[in-house]
Amino acid sequence: MAKSNLPLDADRLWADIMDLAEITDPAQPYTRRSFTALFLEGRTLVAQRFAEAGLAVRMDTAGNLIGRIEGRNPSLGVIAIGSHSDTVPSGGRFDGIAGVATGLEIVRALRDGGAQLDHTLEVIDFLAEEPSEYGLSCVGSRGMSGSLDGKMLDLVEPSGEPLRDALRRVGGDPERLDAARRGDIRAFLELHIEQGVVLESQSLDIGVVSSIVGIRRIEIVFEGEADHAGTTPLQLRHDALLAAADTVAIVRSVAERLDWEGSGYFVATVGILTVEPSASNIVPGRCRLVIDARTTNPDLTRRFVEAVEQDSAAAATRARVKRSAFTALSDGPPVACDPHLQAALRRAARDLGLGQTDLPSGAGHDAAFMSRICRSAMVFVPCRAGKSHAPEEWADRDAVAAGAAVILQAVKALDQSLQEAGPV
Ligand code: GLV
Ligand code: MN
Ligand code: MN
Repeated sequence: MAKSNLPLDADRLWADIMDLAEITDPAQPYTRRSFTALFLEGRTLVAQRFAEAGLAVRMDTAGNLIGRIEGRNPSLGVIAIGSHSDTVPSGGRFDGIAGVATGLEIVRALRDGGAQLDHTLEVIDFLAEEPSEYGLSCVGSRGMSGSLDGKMLDLVEPSGEPLRDALRRVGGDPERLDAARRGDIRAFLELHIEQGVVLESQSLDIGVVSSIVGIRRIEIVFEGEADHAGTTPLQLRHDALLAAADTVAIVRSVAERLDWEGSGYFVATVGILTVEPSASNIVPGRCRLVIDARTTNPDLTRRFVEAVEQDSAAAATRARVKRSAFTALSDGPPVACDPHLQAALRRAARDLGLGQTDLPSGAGHDAAFMSRICRSAMVFVPCRAGKSHAPEEWADRDAVAAGAAVILQAVKALDQSLQEAGPV
């Protein structure tokens, strides 16, 4: 099928993505960090578009914004489509929001075609999919899947606000998280830009995601002594940054060793490194770093953590500083996408005449948490040069529309086939 003949309105879908992109920190496009005023402004727009499409709009106690349209047979449960509207700092226009806009456009396309599903349909904008200032990602989908615990709610951001209070501030209810936990969702589908080059390099339209990496985040703190950078002899220093810098190199070399072994995909990154007091003429007194380790094989993460724990302790000793924290901030195992949903997506792509392949996801997604409570699967669409988490992130209008059409066709098919398939 020519992309211009897709069974939905590509321009309307595109307009939602571009309109949301306008709501950004002007000094740092595209930035709409979760829990900020800009994030809430973005959500106001999303809620307004949900309502205009005829969805009943609510927020659950985990802070997820949900639009809902009842099916002909509500006892069948819910088919949900969604992603997230928050961004990383200086992120792109598509990561997350393309998936939310897809759900919205599917509702409008069904309405325009006069179609009502047997299942109830929900469009979900999950809270804080990107790692938030509280050190936690996928806050909303963790909440919806019963995976947001009290320890996580106690996490604090740098100015001291606990996640618990932030959740309340954006309309959730941390004391009633159980109410967000869902048992009625039969299937969850998420469209996302690929954030890699597989589709573009093979001139393919659609990636049917086979699995999503597991992610562990670890916080390490080194405490030394702040001192005068001119008068403190090198051998008398307790330089926290020396241990942190060593640790950055250790993370890289251990990750390379594990990845090269060939028993699974493995990457690790130190993306946060704070130095205190951070002045050119003061020996660093305290450093905090956060490691993000991802894999398809949890045994590799176990071995990574063991090695880094041991070697970073040795780095602290060499620098004559104390390692005061080595803490797991979060840990999610790799997940396989649901075979029944993957088959429906493949069939839909084939029927629409789109080029497709199966591929694994190295990025984390709300779909991974949703797989804990329902069948869950994803569609990737190509993005230019695989670039993401950067302002240059780009996906073509027709590429996003093609992915959305695949989900629309799959939803129509699943509305029938799920009735025979039974629970996972
Ligand atoms: C989500 O963007 C991730 O960190 O993979
Ligand atoms: Mn992202
Ligand atoms: Mn995303």
